[in-house]
Amino acid sequence: MSSARKPWEHAKAGGSEHDELAARFVESLSYDTRMYKHDIAGSIAHARMLQKVGLITADDLSEIERGLTEIRGEIDEQGAAWPGWKVELEDVHMCIEAALIEKVGDPGRKLHTGRSRNDQVALDLRLWVDDATAEMDTLCVDLIAAYVSVAERDGDVVMPSYTHLQRAQPIVAGGELMAWCAAVGRCRNRIRLVRAFHNQNPLGSGAIAGSSLPLDREATGEFLRGEAGWTPTDNSIDATANRDVALDYVYALSMTAMTLSRWAEQWIIYMTAEFGFIRIGDAFTTGSSMMPQKRNPDMLELIRGRCGNVYGSLTSLLTMCKGITIGYNRDLQEDKRHVFAAHDTVRDCLMMAAAIARSASFNAERINAGLDRGFADATSLAEYLVNKGVPFRTAHQHVGAIVRMCDEKGVASLTKLDVADMKTVCDKIGKDVAEWLGPANVVKRYRSSGNAGLSGYKEALAVWKDLVGGHADAKEAGSVQASLFGDVDVSDEDEALITAYRELGRTLDDLPYTDEFEALYKAAGGERSRSDVLRRLMNMRKAGKLPRLGRALEKPPVLDGEQEALLMDLVIEHAGSLSLRDQLPYSEAFDAVATAFNARTGLQLSEHQIWRVIAKLAK
Ligand code: ARG
Repeated sequence: MSSARKPWEHAKAGGSEHDELAARFVESLSYDTRMYKHDIAGSIAHARMLQKVGLITADDLSEIERGLTEIRGEIDEQGAAWPGWKVELEDVHMCIEAALIEKVGDPGRKLHTGRSRNDQVALDLRLWVDDATAEMDTLCVDLIAAYVSVAERDGDVVMPSYTHLQRAQPIVAGGELMAWCAAVGRCRNRIRLVRAFHNQNPLGSGAIAGSSLPLDREATGEFLRGEAGWTPTDNSIDATANRDVALDYVYALSMTAMTLSRWAEQWIIYMTAEFGFIRIGDAFTTGSSMMPQKRNPDMLELIRGRCGNVYGSLTSLLTMCKGITIGYNRDLQEDKRHVFAAHDTVRDCLMMAAAIARSASFNAERINAGLDRGFADATSLAEYLVNKGVPFRTAHQHVGAIVRMCDEKGVASLTKLDVADMKTVCDKIGKDVAEWLGPANVVKRYRSSGNAGLSGYKEALAVWKDLVGGHADAKEAGSVQASLFGDVDVSDEDEALITAYRELGRTLDDLPYTDEFEALYKAAGGERSRSDVLRRLMNMRKAGKLPRLGRALEKPPVLDGEQEALLMDLVIEHAGSLSLRDQLPYSEAFDAVATAFNARTGLQLSEHQIWRVIAKLAK
């Protein structure tokens, strides 16, 4: 790093009183360069606003944009070796501004008009967290996808569940996997909430009190985020003084880490010789330097252990913010260390967790061997009696007596006790009780929604599978960072598809199940399936990469209200929800919807016509 003076310290002769120790102590450059893309995006939005309100000229703006775009390219390429990183300049903001001035001269000197590093860093942090939440969202979904893949293979394995780590009721492995999906799904939503809660623009707050210049803060937000522009924060003092976005994000990460630590502990227990419920890939265990037989779950242990680091970041942040006066204080600079550390840890743990989960299998034989122990079907027997009209409390007592009887007679499970013996406790018990006893029978009987038996897990699995599929599509549409700079990746193959689409001249919603679509599918070269081609088109449309043709060659057929309601129900039944309709065309689910609809209405609509109605109803 070369040396430079601090151009903003004029009152102190431009920082000429340089002290090496002080410079090293005060800098944040060693960790805040991670925000360079966000800093540059914020600066471009700010400059566009300055030009809009007449504080800089169009020529100034184009010089600033050219300079910043070049700088972004240089840092993309050179990373830490970029010569503009000068630790004497303290932080990412000053280094980029200094490099801009060096590149473009006076226009660069106008960029900081009406801005302070205090509102600048507040914005950069929000933008960084915004991107980080998008990454974390994807990683949560990846982990859910891993649980789903195990459930699809081993979901039917009957096993005990535990409360107090004592045998409770029989469940299926899929039921427990769906529990982890629910927990991680909630972590994901919590992270998404952070994103939705802090999408406000602090720029224009200045150092603390705002500015006498005619800044248009609404415009900055729009330049920053296009149509879905960020609205200005409410109060200039609060906007520069608070770090709620850091705290909320690290809290959401802490909850995620805590959830992962519970899962890790559960599987560590399941991997012991005593349980032997689960095996994970050898790559995710380590041997012992002394004991040759060992397969230790070190990666799971580290997931459990690193949760502590994340809590540490949260505690540090809370403590850092405690008691500081309202306005920027340099304490706040420390926020980024903790946010980045917590983010990196949870990112690594989520990725590791997904890899471990993907490699796992439930050992049905081992689980089955001891399944009859522990009277896990006792609750089922009580519910059998409820069905025979016995009040639950009484049934509970009866079953308690029956379990005691088993103990006295040395009978190991309820299935092995004679019905005649049971009858001595309660005469309502008949031969049909056999269907309520034994774990395999019990898991078939659960009916309440969200249950951990066969019906509940299958229902949940369908929902999670939809989420996983839909998310893969959203990811394809381009990252947040990409949309920030308007450069969604379009491959050569995609270009060919766009050209063919433009030539057809028939709008996307009107395309499924037509000869035109067949032509397009052939033009795509047959590498992708029909549904892949269609989804790619839909994703490019969402990303604004597909021209809007707006021409439908046919009108959807007119149906009555009842028929429309039936069709919507069928879509929800087979696609999971109306908003997942885009996944329907060219799938088996679509065929099921079409066949059922025509059969139940007596109509003979074509696949194309049915699709048109679905597309119309969804709007
Ligand atoms: N590097 C600083 C931070 O991260 C930027 C803000 C500096 N502001 C100031 N008034 N010294 O907080």
